[in-house]
Amino acid sequence: MQLRLGVNIDHVATIRNARGGRLPDPVRAARLAIEAGADGITAHLREDRRHISDDDIARLKADIKKPLNLEMAATDEMIAIAVRTKPHAACLVPERRAERTTEGGLDAVGGRLALKPKIAELRAAGIRVSLFIAAEPTQIKEAAALGAPVIEIHTGAWCHALADGHKAAADTEWRRIREGATLAASLGLEVHAGHGLDYASAEAIAAVPEIAELNIGHFLVGEAVFVGLAETVRAMRAAMDRGRSRAGKG
Ligand code: PXP
Repeated sequence: MQLRLGVNIDHVATIRNARGGRLPDPVRAARLAIEAGADGITAHLREDRRHISDDDIARLKADIKKPLNLEMAATDEMIAIAVRTKPHAACLVPERRAERTTEGGLDAVGGRLALKPKIAELRAAGIRVSLFIAAEPTQIKEAAALGAPVIEIHTGAWCHALADGHKAAADTEWRRIREGATLAASLGLEVHAGHGLDYASAEAIAAVPEIAELNIGHFLVGEAVFVGLAETVRAMRAAMDRGRSRAGKG
């Protein structure tokens, strides 16, 4: 299975908003990322609009030629924006502590009653719905029961353990991700992953054959400061291709 790269351009908007005004433009970053090999663009319209704005989402939808994945909280306001804008996909993420599981993903189990009609509304609008959840069996099974066709596994805990050199914790998280991906695929879910990925972790996780897409932002925008966004996206694509070539080989 091909492994897609979704480039998250939120932090281009973070830099713009540090000064106000229009520059750097996240839509220009999106175009450049696609030219360099991104398969799609991801942007998170937060309730507090701390980086991406409503106007950014409208311009991304009008301008880019690859799928737009809108990350959003499952609020009435965001559902209305998504239904109006019709991105290719909507990834439901937690923004408030009460919506999170202990691992940091969306609490699909605790939030099931509120999530069910929202997922149905997005699906009725032709939007592919994904739930950003920890690789926990109860959460994965609930995502399938709620009718979400896609989950995105939260890789934050794994990436933080790797970065901090906590090998035992990283190994535990890695097992959880691999088993979660296998369980999700067996339930018919498409599996994505993201949060905190860099070249090394993206190459490692690319070897998990059930994973169809990685969504990566902060590391790419940070590296772009030093070597440029196009070069960074190309290097990430190459790391993912190396990892995928090892898929299923243990
Ligand atoms: N996937 C989801 C659902 C996210 O919320 C984020 C962070 O916005 C990412 C992927 C990308 O994470 P990072 O910026 O750490 O690469």
